[in-house]
Amino acid sequence: MSTSVSSVFDSIKMAPDDPILGLNEAFKEDPRKEKVNLGIGVYCTEDGKVPLLSCVEKTEKQMAEKGDPHTYLPISGIPDYDSGVQKLLFGPDSEVIKDKRAATVQTLGGTGALKEGADFLHSILDDPEVLVSTPTWGNHIAIFEHAGFKVGTYPYYDKATGKIEFDKMIDCLQSLEPKTVILMHACCHNPTGVDPTQEQWDEIVQVCIEKDLIPFLDIAYQGFGKDLDSDAYAIRQFADSGIRFIVASSFSKNFSLYGERVGALTVVCKDEDEAKRVLSQIKSLVRANYSNPPTHGAKIVATVLNDPELTEQWHKDLDEMRDRVKLMRKLLVESLKKQGSKKDFSFIENQNGMFSFSQLTPEQIERLRKDYGVYVVKSSRICVASLNKNNVDYTAKAICEVQE
Ligand code: LMR
Repeated sequence: MSTSVSSVFDSIKMAPDDPILGLNEAFKEDPRKEKVNLGIGVYCTEDGKVPLLSCVEKTEKQMAEKGDPHTYLPISGIPDYDSGVQKLLFGPDSEVIKDKRAATVQTLGGTGALKEGADFLHSILDDPEVLVSTPTWGNHIAIFEHAGFKVGTYPYYDKATGKIEFDKMIDCLQSLEPKTVILMHACCHNPTGVDPTQEQWDEIVQVCIEKDLIPFLDIAYQGFGKDLDSDAYAIRQFADSGIRFIVASSFSKNFSLYGERVGALTVVCKDEDEAKRVLSQIKSLVRANYSNPPTHGAKIVATVLNDPELTEQWHKDLDEMRDRVKLMRKLLVESLKKQGSKKDFSFIENQNGMFSFSQLTPEQIERLRKDYGVYVVKSSRICVASLNKNNVDYTAKAICEVQE
């Protein structure tokens, strides 16, 4: 039965569709067989399917045979998972781990880690302000705004050269007030696919120390750049420097566990005592937010990371995904050239991770969707990881035709 009594609900406006997840919904509803989803950051195999990694399949079978009851996890998650996260981020022999100066909690994906991290910082900073790269993953801005931060930007990507505006970025960081939070992508920058070099990271670390900034590193694509260790270079440099910093990490992509929401928030502290205090505060935030995390995905990851044979299998699975994305970059560039593209897209081959910032115009992006069923995020980001040998030529042809 409906009621005619007026209410604050009456004036609620329709929120806009999310630029990435909304596009994904539209893609699902598109009846065209030839459609290609270059929107959401999800890796697909040559058959166009989201893979079930062999290490995950094996672990799930073992778990099903064992048949554990569905009890609550501790607020901070599975201890073996949290320690596995730290080893991946800092390296197994890291001083941070030996000195127990990192506090880690299992979170609802990398997004959940960003939100818990933002809430934590909000609780300790007087006028919380965060700077994100221009451009960045759109949800970064929403997460920090919802957490009560003032959100600003720092220069990052130069459209003209396709490179990082490094001097401008450093100048901006130099000009900041102490305790400003700097959100950075530790590898495989989303959406541009353009990362700082190791020397540039070294300089960024120095500026953060000198200016007393709070680095917050988002690492959602570890293993999709060069390899698991190289992709953690920035994190390990920050760790060695002794500065306090924060990391949001995720296994959505590198374990292909998207829907399981398996992430972690790690705060690197001065010493063990500080880490214990920080952990206690984050646990209070988690308890008041979602109480404790879900079990299934984190149990898979913890099992794989603590079993040498399964870990080796995971590394192979991950290498295969990364190599296939690199091959798709190459095939796309070749096909674009072959089909007479007016624009030189060779920069796509030099970018890292799942994405490429294609520099297609809004009109071209609209025509790609309407006329060809090729879905591209408004920012012009394309997910190269969903291309395959069957759709790459079709995609390249469509891109060439919308340049007419
Ligand atoms: C993406 O950037 O496409 C992914 O991280 C999925 C998402 O949640 O936006």
